[in-house]
Amino acid sequence: MADPLHRTLSQSLPLNDIASALAESGWGIFNGVLPWPLTLRLQERALAIRSYERAGIGREQDHRLNAFVRRDRVTWVEGTDPAERDWLTWAEGLRVYLNRSLMLGLTGFESHFAHYPAGAFYRKHLDAFRGQSNRVISLVFYLNPAWAPGDGGELALFDASGLELGRFPPTLGTLAIYLSEEFPHEVLPTGVDRFSLTGWFRCRAELPLNNL
Ligand code: OGA
Ligand code: MN
Repeated sequence: MADPLHRTLSQSLPLNDIASALAESGWGIFNGVLPWPLTLRLQERALAIRSYERAGIGREQDHRLNAFVRRDRVTWVEGTDPAERDWLTWAEGLRVYLNRSLMLGLTGFESHFAHYPAGAFYRKHLDAFRGQSNRVISLVFYLNPAWAPGDGGELALFDASGLELGRFPPTLGTLAIYLSEEFPHEVLPTGVDRFSLTGWFRCRAELPLNNL
C-alpha cells in the first residue's frame, strides 16, 4: 500500500487540472496543489539553506552581463534533505501523470531553490530555446508566507507574441507552470527577500531507437 505521502498526494493533487491547463493554453497558476505540510517544510528548508550562489545564464562566465540579466542566487536540489526528497517524489508523480495524459515523453527533472535578495530581479527570458535545449516544462513553486502588494517580485508571464498574460505574486503555496520554449517571463524587482523552488521537466534530446 502507498506510504502516507503518496496517500496524501493522491487525495490532494489536482493533477488533472494541471494537465488540462497545459493542454489547453500551455500555462497555469495554481494554489494548494502540494500538500500544505510539505509546502511548509519546503519553506523552512529554503530559509535554512546557507549556500545560495549567484546564478548563471549559460555558457559564458560574464559576470557583468549576468548581473544585468539576473540577480538571484540558487542552490540545486540534490535530495539530501527529507523535504527535498518529498518534493522530488511529488514532481515524479506529476511527470508520470503528464506523460500518461499528454504523451509528453518527459524523461527527467531538475530543480533549484532560488533566493532573490531585496533589489533582485530576472529580466524577461525564455527557459529554453527551440532545438537547443531539452527543457520542456517549467514550474515555479513560491515560498513566501507574507507577500503584500507593493513588495514587488511578481512573475510577469507573456505569450509568444509578447502579450502580458498576467502578473502573479510569489505567495506561499502558489505554483506557476508553463511550457519552457513558449512563454517569455520576468521576475520584477523585489523589495524584500523572495524565495522559490524552480524546476524543469526535460526530455532527452535524442532517443536511441532501441528505446522506442
Ligand atoms: C527562472 C525563473 C521565475 C520566478 O528561475 O528561470 O524565471 O518567478 N523564475 O521565480
Ligand atoms: Mn525562467
